[in-house]
Amino acid sequence: MKKLTGKIALVTGASRGIGRGIALRLAQEGALVAVHYGKSQKEAEDVVHQIEQSGGTAFAIGAELTTLNGIHDLYTRLDEALRTRTGDHRFDILVNNAGIGQILTIEETTEASFDEVMNINVKAPLFVIQQALPRLIDGGRVINLSSFVTRVASPTVFTYSLSKGAVDTLTLALARHLGSRNITVNAIQPGIINTEMNSRTLQDPHGRKYAAGLSTFNRWGEPEDVADVAAFLASSDSRWITGQLIDVSGGSHL
Ligand SMILES: NC(=O)c1ccc[n+]([C@@H]2O[C@H](COP(=O)([O-])OP(=O)(O)OC[C@H]3O[C@@H](n4cnc5c(N)ncnc54)[C@H](OP(=O)(O)O)[C@@H]3O)[C@@H](O)[C@H]2O)c1
Repeated sequence: MKKLTGKIALVTGASRGIGRGIALRLAQEGALVAVHYGKSQKEAEDVVHQIEQSGGTAFAIGAELTTLNGIHDLYTRLDEALRTRTGDHRFDILVNNAGIGQILTIEETTEASFDEVMNINVKAPLFVIQQALPRLIDGGRVINLSSFVTRVASPTVFTYSLSKGAVDTLTLALARHLGSRNITVNAIQPGIINTEMNSRTLQDPHGRKYAAGLSTFNRWGEPEDVADVAAFLASSDSRWITGQLIDVSGGSHL
């Protein structure tokens, strides 16, 4: 029996990278997956196609997440898509994955760069969760993508690390808040993962050496390394785990 049969998941930013990996993995476990995208519609439709080719179920749903209007659009479209497929608009698993990286020190930070990263990395998950609350089924799951940069001093990605620190705090507070509904809230803290976010680093020989050398296993991570952990957190196997920040960095900075 697959571990997520009968469950419904929304994965934000699932058109590429880690979100794509999580969408594929949750679908492999039997979940019906809403594959959210921002701009990459074609890529999101390819993810849906790949899931369907493997016998799974999914649909793509586009919305810009940095404004409340955009998040309203997300749920209008999700409600409609779910009612068509299941007769109900509720769902079980929310994965807050959409986000951007930003390599800037405090000296290089501007108001615009601050707003850019905070809007998608903090404001978006906060209001995506807020509007998910009446739709999430009791016993459900919230999984937030944080980063290993909150565990060590990370001055070269200054505001980015602040944004993920906020995700950690949000995870802890909501785990307490939603316990009475048996909803678990956990964060995954990946290390360096092979996605477009790190394409410049991983194309450069020095960058590749640095990225691999951070992990005690002397390699960088792949989206599947993170997706397997997300699948565990989405399943009933993780029922006694909440409010946790789970390092998925291959032992970086040990
Ligand atoms: N890669 C890493 O090494 C790493 C490490 C630690 C944590 N993380 C975290 O893991 C998450 C995924 O990272 P990734 O490397 O997979 O990123 P990625 O490959 O760059 O993909 C980012 C995803 O987020 C979506 N997105 C970005 N801005 C958006 C917006 N304004 N509105 C709606 N969707 C938006 C993109 O959608 P469209 O392309 O459709 O617009 C895309 O699907 C992020 O939260 C990131 O901070 C990544």
